[in-house]
Amino acid sequence: MAEPIAPILVSEDLTRHYEVPRGFLKGPAVLKALDGVSFEVAPGRTLAVVGESGCGKSTLARQLVMIEKPTAGRLVIDGADVAGADAATLRRLRRRVQMVFQNPYASLNPRKTVAQTLEEPLAINTDLDRAARRERVAAMMARVGLRPEQAGRYPHMFSGGQRQRVAIARALMLDPAVVVADEPVSALDVSIQAQVLNLLIDLQQEFGVAYVFISHDLSVVRHIADEVMVMYLGRAVEQADKDVLFDAPAHPYTRALLAATPRIDPDERAVRQPIGGELPSPLAPPPGCTFHRRCPFAIDRCKTERPELRPVGPRRVACHRAEEVLAQP
Ligand SMILES: Nc1ncnc2c1ncn2[C@@H]1O[C@H](COP(=O)(O)OP(=O)(O)OP(=O)(O)O)[C@@H](O)[C@H]1O
Ligand SMILES: [Mg+2]
Repeated sequence: MAEPIAPILVSEDLTRHYEVPRGFLKGPAVLKALDGVSFEVAPGRTLAVVGESGCGKSTLARQLVMIEKPTAGRLVIDGADVAGADAATLRRLRRRVQMVFQNPYASLNPRKTVAQTLEEPLAINTDLDRAARRERVAAMMARVGLRPEQAGRYPHMFSGGQRQRVAIARALMLDPAVVVADEPVSALDVSIQAQVLNLLIDLQQEFGVAYVFISHDLSVVRHIADEVMVMYLGRAVEQADKDVLFDAPAHPYTRALLAATPRIDPDERAVRQPIGGELPSPLAPPPGCTFHRRCPFAIDRCKTERPELRPVGPRRVACHRAEEVLAQP
C-alpha cells in the first residue's frame, strides 16, 4: 500500500465566537459564527465549503488564512500548529496560505498596475532581482491568460473576469500550498464563471496547490470539488466525497440545497425549489438540531437533542434520521 499523504491543512474543532453588544445594561451576546469544524485537505486537492449566507464560511476563511485567531480548536498547516508557532514559522505559514476574494475590484489596489501588483509579493518575500521578478510576473500573467501588453494597466481597465485572473495570479506568486477562495466566481457572469473555474482547475494541476473553495452555490462546486463540506449555522452538517454527496445526500439540508440549485442537465432541470422557512438568528439558534424547524424529516428528538457528525456509509452527517433520509429517493 502507498504511504498515506500527510494533509497540508488540518482543522480540528475550529471555533470562532464573536461578542456582540446587546445595548445598555446588558452583557454582550455570544454569536457562534464558527462552532467546531473539523476537516483535512490533502495537497493538491479541493475542499468545497457550501452553505447559505451567514453560516460561517468567510469566518472559516479568516481563520484559515490567519487574519483572525480562533476562539478554540486547532489549525495545523504544513505540519505546524499555528497556535504554537513562533514569528518566523508564522511568516512562513502566511506565505503558504493565500486568499482570493469574491470581489477582485475591492481586493486589488486601484493605483497599482497589474505588473506592480504581481511583483510586490516577490519584492517583499524573495531575494529575486528586478529582472528575475519581471520574468516571473510575465510567466504568471501568461499562465492565467493575460496578455503581456496588459501588464501596465490598472484594475479599472479590466473586466470582472480579468480582474479575478489578476487576483488569482497574485495569490499564486509565492507558490502557496493552499489557496482559500471565498466565493471567487459569485460576482461574475455565468459565462465567465466557467472560464475562471476551468482556469483554477488547470492551475491546480500545474502548481499542485490545494483549494478551500467557498460558495453558497452547490452547482458551482460540482465541477471543482474533490470533497464537500456543507455548513449550517456555524457547524458542518455533512462531509463527503463530491460524488457521494451529489449522488446520495444524507442530510435534509444538503437535499434542500440541491433542490434549490439549478441543474445544468435540461432533463433534470425540473422545478427549482427554494429552501422553506427562514434561517434562524445565529444569536438564538433553535435547540436540538438547528435545522429542525425547516426540516421535513424532523421528529421530536430533533427538537431537543443536537445531532453530532457521525459516519453513515462513506460520509459523515449530523442528522438523527440520516438512514431514513437515504432510504427516501
Ligand atoms: N466581526 C464579527 N462580529 C460579529 N459577528 C460577526 C462578525 N463576522 C461575522 N459575524 C457573524 O457571523 C456569522 C457568520 O458570518 P460569515 O460572514 O462567516 O458568513 P458567510 O457564510 O460567509 O455568509 P455570506 O454567504 O453572506 O458571505 C454571521 O451571523 C455574521 O453576522
Ligand atoms: Mg462570506
